Amino acid sequence: MEVRAVLETIHEWKKLYQARKWMKQNATFLPAWHAYVGYTAELFECFAEGNTVEEAATQCNLDKGLLQNWVDVGLAVGHLRERDNRIHATPAMLSYVSPSSPDSVGPLLQELMELHIPTLLQYPSLLKGEEKPVFENDRFGPTVAATSALLEKLAFPKLVHWIKAHDVHSVLDIGCGHGGYLRRLSEVRGDMRLIGIEQNEEVVRQAQEESNSSGCKLELVHDDFNRWGGPEEPVDLIMMNNILHYFEPDKRCQLLRKAKQMISLGGTITLISPVNKTGSGQAFASAFNSFMSAHENLYPFPTKEELEQMAGGEGLRMSLCQPVIREGSWYFIGLEQTGEER
Ligand SMILES: C[S@@+](CC[C@H](N)C(=O)[O-])C[C@H]1O[C@@H](n2cnc3c(N)ncnc32)[C@H](O)[C@@H]1O
Repeated sequence: MEVRAVLETIHEWKKLYQARKWMKQNATFLPAWHAYVGYTAELFECFAEGNTVEEAATQCNLDKGLLQNWVDVGLAVGHLRERDNRIHATPAMLSYVSPSSPDSVGPLLQELMELHIPTLLQYPSLLKGEEKPVFENDRFGPTVAATSALLEKLAFPKLVHWIKAHDVHSVLDIGCGHGGYLRRLSEVRGDMRLIGIEQNEEVVRQAQEESNSSGCKLELVHDDFNRWGGPEEPVDLIMMNNILHYFEPDKRCQLLRKAKQMISLGGTITLISPVNKTGSGQAFASAFNSFMSAHENLYPFPTKEELEQMAGGEGLRMSLCQPVIREGSWYFIGLEQTGEER
């Protein structure tokens, strides 16, 4: 074989290897797609008791051919099983992905598939100067609030620890979402005054509903924190959980300043937030920041140093910065007053 022919063969093998590599990398997308479709179209429920594709298509009024393909993928990725010629959803999919399950993490799949992926696919045109889309908080508010709430289980013990170390009798949660942190606090410390402010009407309605049904006494305010006059009396703790991306980096000082004016002498501020460039979880931090930066009205997360500097400028000292999920770059941050005014 001529040298040229040998080189061409090697070149072709390398190209094939590259194509195979990307094809295989993309296969990891399939389970998330399958779960998302199953969650959104309530398909796992159709196979809860075991069903044939024909029966399920008829009962749920679905396209049989498409359903068959979805079932084939589900069998391949292990979300469905075939037994006695019937298809069964696995217990894990029924518990964690079905919309009717109280343990469902479906909103996370919805956020990934309906918000993050479409936005990231817009990058080529955004890079070339196409106008950035506006994040529709009214429309997607309930989904993002539900997704953030998935972090509560891990983050709440850190909050309890902080409260035990500080003299806290009243709490204000800015951008409280469904009020999960406040509800959990009322369970462990029923004597505290608990106030939440939330700008999304539907989210605050859901928060009120959950608060009523769990019997806890939360004071929920439907307003934009930027416009709100604040509580009648200073509070001992202000929480800002997963809200920094709604505030322009230049305006975050004002956010801290306004919050600081609402805390009592010795009062503190805590934040739960992704932090950029921490040295771990950078893939997630970069993905978040790519998503945020691709919107007209969302902003990237700061680094720890930026946050520390900003807090310092407002007479606040970062006395705690502890990972909540290190690989997700989520941190619990505690700010105490230094006594130094600007
Ligand atoms: C990502 S969710 C986080 C919810 C909750 N804090 C948590 O960590 O689970 C952010 C919430 O902040 C609310 N929010 C954003 N900017 C706000 C503002 N200026 N005033 C009041 N709420 C705001 C949004 O509507 C949204 O529900």
